[in-house]
Amino acid sequence: MERRNFMKLSGGVGATLFYGSFFAPSALFANKDELLGFKAIKASIDDTVIVPEGYEVKPLISWGDPLFSDATPFDESKTINQQAINNALKVFGDNTDGMKMFALQGNRAIIAVNNEYINPELMFVHQGKNMSLDDVKYEQNSLGVSIFEVERGNDGFYKVVIDSKYNRRITAQTPMLIDGPASGDERMKTQADAQGTKVLGTFNNCASGQTPWGTYLTCEENFDTFFGTDDKNYSTNTSEKRYGVGIKDEYNWKLDERFSVSKNPHEPNRFGWVVEIDPYDPQSTPIKRTALGRFKHENAEITISQDGYVVVYMGDDEANEFLYKFISKDKFDAKNPQKNKNLLSEGTLYVAKLTTKKDALQGNGIWIELTHNKNGLNTAAGFKSQADVLIDARLAASKVGATPLDRPEWIAIDPKQEMVYMTLTNNSKRTEEQIDGANPRAKNVYGQILRWKAKNNDHTTTEFEWDIFLLAGNPLKYPHDLRKGTKNITVDNMFNSPDGLLFDKFGRLWIQTDGKYSNKDDFEGMGNNQMLCANPLTGEVRRFLTGPIGCEITGLILSEDCKTMLVGIQHPGEKLTGSHYPNGGNSTPRSTIVQIKKTDGGVLGS
Ligand code: FEO
Ligand code: CA
Ligand code: CA
Ligand code: CA
Repeated sequence: MERRNFMKLSGGVGATLFYGSFFAPSALFANKDELLGFKAIKASIDDTVIVPEGYEVKPLISWGDPLFSDATPFDESKTINQQAINNALKVFGDNTDGMKMFALQGNRAIIAVNNEYINPELMFVHQGKNMSLDDVKYEQNSLGVSIFEVERGNDGFYKVVIDSKYNRRITAQTPMLIDGPASGDERMKTQADAQGTKVLGTFNNCASGQTPWGTYLTCEENFDTFFGTDDKNYSTNTSEKRYGVGIKDEYNWKLDERFSVSKNPHEPNRFGWVVEIDPYDPQSTPIKRTALGRFKHENAEITISQDGYVVVYMGDDEANEFLYKFISKDKFDAKNPQKNKNLLSEGTLYVAKLTTKKDALQGNGIWIELTHNKNGLNTAAGFKSQADVLIDARLAASKVGATPLDRPEWIAIDPKQEMVYMTLTNNSKRTEEQIDGANPRAKNVYGQILRWKAKNNDHTTTEFEWDIFLLAGNPLKYPHDLRKGTKNITVDNMFNSPDGLLFDKFGRLWIQTDGKYSNKDDFEGMGNNQMLCANPLTGEVRRFLTGPIGCEITGLILSEDCKTMLVGIQHPGEKLTGSHYPNGGNSTPRSTIVQIKKTDGGVLGS
C-alpha cells in the first residue's frame, strides 16, 4: 500500500470510518445519543485531577499508604534501611497501573492492582544516582501487585480496609510457580532453580485481566529493563536482542546477582509472562502461565466463546510487535470452579496477520497458530520445542508473518462480547515504506484505536474483519494531513498516545492516555495526560478527566452499578517535572488511585 493512497484519504477518512463503516457495532444502548451526557472539560496543565461539572474526585490510596496497622506511613525523609525495606511489604506499592475488582459480601470487595515500576528520581534522596543493594531491595518490595479489601460507604466512595485478611503484597521476591509448556524447560533452569519450575517474583506488571473464575491476571511488560550485565564483553544472542535483554539496564538491579545476565543468563526467560493470582486466597502461590506466550504484555482481555472456550486477547507493547490470542484446550464450566482454575495451563496461541483493503483504513485478518512443527516453527528454524516457541513468541510470530503494529496496548471487548478494540499507542519507528491501513502514519506520534470483529462473532475462528475507530492527532497543528486525526478528533478533545481502554456495561468506551505532556510542538493544546469517553456508535469522543503534571492515566475500575470509578494516576512528577500531587506543598509526588462519582449519584458518563 502506497503512502499517497492514505494521504488521499485524509479528507474523507472520518466519513469512511463512522458512517459507512462495514460493520457498525450492534446497538449497545437504546438511544445512541444518550451515551455521553457530561460536559467535556478543557485540556489542562495544572497539577491536579480535574473532572466535569457535577462530578467529584477523591483519593483512595497513594504509594506508601499502609495496608496494615503496623506499617509506617510514607516517609518524606526517604531513609532506606532494613526497616524501610520490610515496611514496603505492608504498604501500597509504587506506580499504580492495571487493576480489577473482586466482589465480596455486601459493600465489600477486593482490589488487585499492579504496581508497575518505580521512579528512583522520586524514591531516593540521591535520585537513583547512587544505588546500593538496599535501595534495590527497597525497589523490589515496592513494585509487583497490591491486593487489598475496600468497603463502599453510603456516599458511594470506597475506603481501604486496613488489616483485612485479603491484604497482600506480591513483589519481585514472592515465590511463584512456572506452569505450562515452558515449565521445566532447559532454558528456564537457573542455579537457584535446577528444575525450572519455580521463580521469585514478578515486576513491570503493566495492565491486567480478570477471569470468569475469579482470578487476577497480572501481565509482565518491560522486564528487560531490570536486567543488566557485569561483563562489558557480554554478547547478546538473537532471543536477548529481540527482547532487549542485557541492553537497557535502567535500574541497576544487577547489584543483586540474579539480575546480572552474564551471571544468570536464563533468569530473564522467567519473565515476560502472564501471572495468575487468586485474590480470594491470600496464601495462594501465583502461577506464571507460559502457554500464553512470553512478550512485553500489556493486558489480557478475556471472553468465553460461544462454545465455551476461554479466549484471551493480548498485545505486545513495543514498536512493530504483535497482537496475540490464546484459546484454551478445555472448556469453561461454571459448575466446576476447581477445574476452571487450570484453564490457562493448556491451549493454543495465535498471532494476528492483517491485510488492508485498497485505499482504506480497514481490511481482513487471520490468526496464525504458534505451535511447534506447524507453520515452519521447527528445529531448522530455531524452535526445538513448544517451550522455544513460547519463550521466543516474538521470533515465532515474525517467522509466521504476523503484522507489525504501532505498539499494541490495552484491548477491550464490548459488553455484547462482539467488537474488540485495541489501542496502538504510537510508533516513532514506523517508516514510510512500512505504513498500511492499520498503521497508516510514518513516525506516528499520536496513536490510534483499531477494532475487529470475529467471523460469525465466534472468538475461536481464525478470521476477522477490522477497521480503525480513531486516529488521534492534532487538527490545530496539522489540519491538512493524516496527522490531524480522524473526523472525531477536534481541537476540543485532542490527545495523544491512547493506552488504557475499558468498556462499561452500557457500551461507553473509556480511553486513558500515556502520552507526551509537553503541550508544545506536535502536542500543542493537548495538556497533561487524560481520560476520555467515547460513544462507539457515533464515534464521538469527549474529554472526561485531566491528570496532574508528569503523570500517566492508567488503570480503571467501574463499580458494578457504574456509579463510582477508580482511576490510576501513575507517576505524577516523573523525571522531576515538578508535581506535588496529591498532597501539595513541597511533598513528594506519589502515584495515587482516585475515585470519582457524580454528585447526584448517577451513572458515570451519562
Ligand atoms: Fe505499561 Fe505498555 O504500558
Ligand atoms: Ca500501558
Ligand atoms: Ca504506554
Ligand atoms: Ca507507565
